[in-house]
Amino acid sequence: MTVRVLVLHGPNLNLLGVREPNIYGSMTLAEIDASLVAQGAEIGAEVSALQSNHEGVLIDALHSARLDGTDAVVFNAAGYTHTSVAIRDAVVACGVPVVEVHLSNPAAREDFRQTSLLSPVVHGIVSGLGPDSYRLGLEAAVALVRRDRAETE
Ligand code: DQA
Repeated sequence: MTVRVLVLHGPNLNLLGVREPNIYGSMTLAEIDASLVAQGAEIGAEVSALQSNHEGVLIDALHSARLDGTDAVVFNAAGYTHTSVAIRDAVVACGVPVVEVHLSNPAAREDFRQTSLLSPVVHGIVSGLGPDSYRLGLEAAVALVRRDRAETE
């Protein structure tokens, strides 16, 4: 059975490829999304992607995931990772497994990036591996869903 995964990208990630390429790499968001859709097709997952610079839009997307048949979310909340109680609450409320991903390794960066409000409430975290963080995050999300399905069969 297909696994439906929402890849959710937070603020400023629309500028990937031109934004601090020394930190975030040269791949654009469109290229990352296309590679995840292709990866999904290979592993039996239907991948959709959404980017927003607006906290409320990200929260609405997490609420929709609860109702629209999404099985898991791969989420790079970008700067909101470190600041948004509302997004953390929505991650808890969405009721599907969420894998937190980051292109960079926030733990190796500035002090204000050392706290993730999301990490305590997600199923797992992949960071510091560039676009591979998303690739491994998608693989992990699909594995989580398949494991849960096998357990409830
Ligand atoms: C990021 C890390 C965050 O600290 C930062 O605010 C971002 C991107 C990453 O993917 O490495 O915008 O989430």
